[in-house]
Amino acid sequence: MIKKYSYKIYKFQILFLGFVLVIASISCKSEKTVNRIINRGKLADSIMVVSAREEASRIGAEILKNGGNAFDALIAVDMALNVAYPFAGSIGGGGFMVYRKANGETGSIDYREKAPMAATSTMYLDAAGNPIDSLSRQGPLAVGVPGGIAGMFAIHKKLGSMPMEEILKPVIELAENGFTITENQLGRFKAYASLFEHVNRKEILFSKGFRPSDSIKIKANTLFKNPALAATLKRIAKNGESEFYDGETAQILVNFIQKHNGIITLEDLKSYDAVWRDPIVANYKDLKLIGMPPPSSGGIALAQILKMIEPYSIAQYKHNSLESIQLITEAERRAYADRSFYLGDPDFNTIPIDSLLSDRYNLKRMESFSFNEATPSLEVERGELSGYESMETTHFSLVDQFGNAVALTTTLNGAYGSKLYVDELGFFLNNEMDDFSAKPGVPNMFGLLGAEANKIEPQKRMLSSMTPTIVEKNGKLWMTVGTPGGSTIITSVLQTILNVSDFNMGMQEAVDAPRFHHQWLPDVVTFEPNAFGTDLLKQLENKGYIIQQENSVILGKVDGVLILPDGRLEGGADRRGDDTAVGF
Ligand code: GLY
Repeated sequence: MIKKYSYKIYKFQILFLGFVLVIASISCKSEKTVNRIINRGKLADSIMVVSAREEASRIGAEILKNGGNAFDALIAVDMALNVAYPFAGSIGGGGFMVYRKANGETGSIDYREKAPMAATSTMYLDAAGNPIDSLSRQGPLAVGVPGGIAGMFAIHKKLGSMPMEEILKPVIELAENGFTITENQLGRFKAYASLFEHVNRKEILFSKGFRPSDSIKIKANTLFKNPALAATLKRIAKNGESEFYDGETAQILVNFIQKHNGIITLEDLKSYDAVWRDPIVANYKDLKLIGMPPPSSGGIALAQILKMIEPYSIAQYKHNSLESIQLITEAERRAYADRSFYLGDPDFNTIPIDSLLSDRYNLKRMESFSFNEATPSLEVERGELSGYESMETTHFSLVDQFGNAVALTTTLNGAYGSKLYVDELGFFLNNEMDDFSAKPGVPNMFGLLGAEANKIEPQKRMLSSMTPTIVEKNGKLWMTVGTPGGSTIITSVLQTILNVSDFNMGMQEAVDAPRFHHQWLPDVVTFEPNAFGTDLLKQLENKGYIIQQENSVILGKVDGVLILPDGRLEGGADRRGDDTAVGF
């Protein structure tokens, strides 16, 4: 009797095991089809923060562990990057954030810098009407009215859950106790020390100890404190947003800018507002993209490129093959041509968003494409419907334990912005004015052309390429992603999404994969060095593509989070920087 019963259980177990094997083989099918094992990055069950610095990612994750939500954490990460990553800190600059709440609600906020009231369309032109590049790139006239603090307080008011003092506490401690100088950072401080002193006309916190002439030299892996920034953050934590735009900090800032012959006034600061905007929503295959609308070109250009690629089923050509590079390049060429003509501040221009995003329009844009040869950019004008940027931006992606997701990109524009360092306040000021078209039709420092839509006007926001993006798959959160990289931001985000969606990579693999970039003009395709075969590049040249491959080229530092089918989170922290994923 007992034996019979055991046998029955045994038979049942065999049947059950068979059933499990069938199910397992079905669910593993996609892995088998792609015939490769995905090397996943950092994995976590409920929280993932990926940013340019470990300290910032950790502080964000701690806020979440202490019960805060994604929006509390993003404020902490953003402010911690001001301390540990002054290269691109947002307090003296601005940025964009796209979010998706656990209930599916989406939104975006624009806290981009604005032109001061005294700005004019000719402020960077010489007597002959030619742009003087140095004026819009370094020093006081390059500075746009900063939006960073307004952005953080607007996010906190609408979506935050913890008191601001509590959010800023670990950030203030980081500034007081010090962050670790990484090898990368040390190299950059050394490289910029003399330019910092030239622009500021004196030594600053980030030049002393980094000059070749210094007898006491700061070394990598030592702690570096910024007490002035700690004091500024303490006042902001205590007095709120008005501290930065109308209080003691505002007065110090204005006095500093005016001492350097800049044009930003207290009126400019007082009248600054962050703006909530409807995100760009577009479909690509089974994905829904939620992207940043103008004044960023990111959401529109990314959606356009994907729509131009969609009819071709890019996966059949394989990752970074001749055909896939051609297809992506040609779509980029056409989208960037549109970008340069149609896009600018939506508060100053009417932007034909629906037309630019229509399937019909983007299909028509690719009618002139052929795999036989490159389309010369001079033959590609804007499409018939009835600016520019820098590498020194930063992006972070974050998913919280409640299922809220955030993609935030913030910038000073160039490395350390205008290089002007407000020593009393402890931060660099942006050089975002260079993102305007100083003279429509003349390329900016990224070689991007801008038109009338992006000409300088008082209180206008300059066009951006920042592309913080959230992607849904079948109605569920699938990815949050973004990167620095000026004009290359859009194309790096694009390739990262395609790497996962069409080339079956994991988040970390997608972020690390070699990238290339094209932006219509100049008519060159830029490749990351030593990552693409000589034969492949030769084949592209034979088809008429002009290839650029420089050792110094880094195409973005993408940070993203992917939600895996089993609900776990995979962080992708770009190997190109000190970027770190922290998850629990
Ligand atoms: N300054 C970089 C961008 O806004 O795209």
